[in-house]
Amino acid sequence: MANRKLVAGNWKMHGTAESIGEIVRIAAGVPTGVDVALCLSATLIERAARAVPGFAIGAQDVHSMERGAFTGDVAAHQLHDARASFVIVGHSERRDGHRESDTQVRAKAVAAQGAGLKVILCVGESLEAREAGCAISIVSAQLDASLPPSPVEAVAYEPIWAIGTGRIPSLEDIGEMHAALRSRLIAAYGAAGNVVRLLYGGSVKPSNAAEIFGVADVDGALVGGASMTAADFLPIVEAAAES
Ligand code: 13P
Repeated sequence: MANRKLVAGNWKMHGTAESIGEIVRIAAGVPTGVDVALCLSATLIERAARAVPGFAIGAQDVHSMERGAFTGDVAAHQLHDARASFVIVGHSERRDGHRESDTQVRAKAVAAQGAGLKVILCVGESLEAREAGCAISIVSAQLDASLPPSPVEAVAYEPIWAIGTGRIPSLEDIGEMHAALRSRLIAAYGAAGNVVRLLYGGSVKPSNAAEIFGVADVDGALVGGASMTAADFLPIVEAAAES
């Protein structure tokens, strides 16, 4: 049986108090039959969670240590205390921009799970790797090295070259990658690997969401730019609910 779909928004470094109204509009428009979360900057998490009780709010990163002298970082239990229920780990903007290794990403996932947060673990290849024909081997190895021992809530396949560019892989390429990632999840977790949701991320829009959700082993999406307004995000969520 297909997994229930999860559509998560990643607001990246956007959003202030003025954005709460948009978050309320998004939460109010979610249909039944689909899970939705918005991953926000740490400054907005608690305000948003109070504004939309029962709607899942998440964070975009977490430190791997429980507490300590880590200036500027946020611990998993602090995110939980702020009422986050999800956290993204291993986004390419962290892996590349902050030089995060697979080992660090794995440690962050372990810390997040220890505090009761649901983990969305990101993997994805560069354009060079895609053009060299080694996307599947590179992303599979990245996943193997980043997965924590306990099953994550979701894995997001985000080709780096598709993020914020308006370009997406062919549906065949998405299907091939998701099938490969599913087999890695089953190798890691046994039957539990079947219920880890595999999200596609990178330039998901209202115009392409339905066809992406129609691909086998696509259990939802991680959406950047198009998650910032109810007008763009809700049609994507509806496409997931209908798929
Ligand atoms: P866009 O949807 O803006 O391409 O961003 C994708 C992304 O990075 C989500 O984490």
